Amino acid sequence: MDIVVSGIRPTGNLHLGNYFGALKSFVKMQEENHCYFFIADYHSLTTHPTPADLHGNVKTVLVEFLACGLDPEKATLYIQSDLPETAELYLLLNMNAYVGELERCTSFKEKIRTQPQNVNAGLLTYPTLMAADIIIHRAHKVPVGKDQEQHLEMTRTFANRFNRVYSVDYFPEPVAYNFGENLVKIPGLDGSLKMSKSDNENSSIFLADTPEVIRKKVMKAVTDSGPANPNNPRSQGVVNLFSLMSYFSSPDTLKHFEDSYQSGTIRYGDMKKQLAEDIILFTSPLREKIMMLAADEVYLKKVASMGAEKARASAAKTIREVREIIGFKPF
Ligand code: ADP
Ligand code: TRP
Repeated sequence: MDIVVSGIRPTGNLHLGNYFGALKSFVKMQEENHCYFFIADYHSLTTHPTPADLHGNVKTVLVEFLACGLDPEKATLYIQSDLPETAELYLLLNMNAYVGELERCTSFKEKIRTQPQNVNAGLLTYPTLMAADIIIHRAHKVPVGKDQEQHLEMTRTFANRFNRVYSVDYFPEPVAYNFGENLVKIPGLDGSLKMSKSDNENSSIFLADTPEVIRKKVMKAVTDSGPANPNNPRSQGVVNLFSLMSYFSSPDTLKHFEDSYQSGTIRYGDMKKQLAEDIILFTSPLREKIMMLAADEVYLKKVASMGAEKARASAAKTIREVREIIGFKPF
């Protein structure tokens, strides 16, 4: 059984793109692998959240992951900062991570550009912390999107370097988890190719949105002036509406609007009304679970402490062995 590790940044509510792009595959993954899924709250300190925001965002992600079907009995679900072993491994890895290679990292260069007033050392060493997260469990696989490939490559560099420096074959070389079927990409309501809360809040529908909010957002979705000639290329906004419909509406409904587009009689307002109701049907059970879980502090505490206990068992073993390899010896 492969050991899989993935970290989720606590950036607030999950949207439909997060659900179809990441969560659904995590739920499947937990059946066939030994999965460690954690909420990366140490990493989020690089942007200086307030104490209230930090805890609130961690809770939101924990609740929404559970609501979507991550099972704390099957996967090990934990909060990064509950694992001090990760911080220790991060310190040790930093001794063999070179400032030059960290400075060349694309995500660091991007941060220098976007937050020049806060280029902290945590940002520079973000990749060593991420490597520590992964190799603390001696993971084989990491589900990562394109934007994280370079970080995973650096993890391999640090793991191999450790093996070489100490002449051991201790850390496996983690590779990207192969999702098999093509990953879906949920488009945005604003005519963008990818639903994303970082680009535009209104492009996203969150799992926890109320039906009223969903109706409002969908009715405001970007379209065009209509099919003057159905053979002309459709605007991206309209392509997106049809694409969303293919996920949330029945094949009959989709066909109905395809036909009316082809005949030039389509009314985007009607299409949006229908789409909103179909999305609401999909999100309602999830939203109910989210509300129930958010109110159940006792259960959340149990999940977090059970996850921390399981994760710490694995991490403590690694740290014990790493200390021995490096040459720390008790007197
Ligand atoms: P955002 O762009 O809204 O900030 P994140 O970058 O936090 O989203 O995404 C977290 C996870 O969700 C990643 O694994 C990413 O690939 C997936 N994801 C995000 N948006 C989409 C989308 N529109 N379609 C499919 N997957 C997505
Ligand atoms: N850097 C990842 C992101 O931005 C989050 C993350 C932190 C992570 N540690 C990890 C992902 C370990 C996979 C494995 O999405």
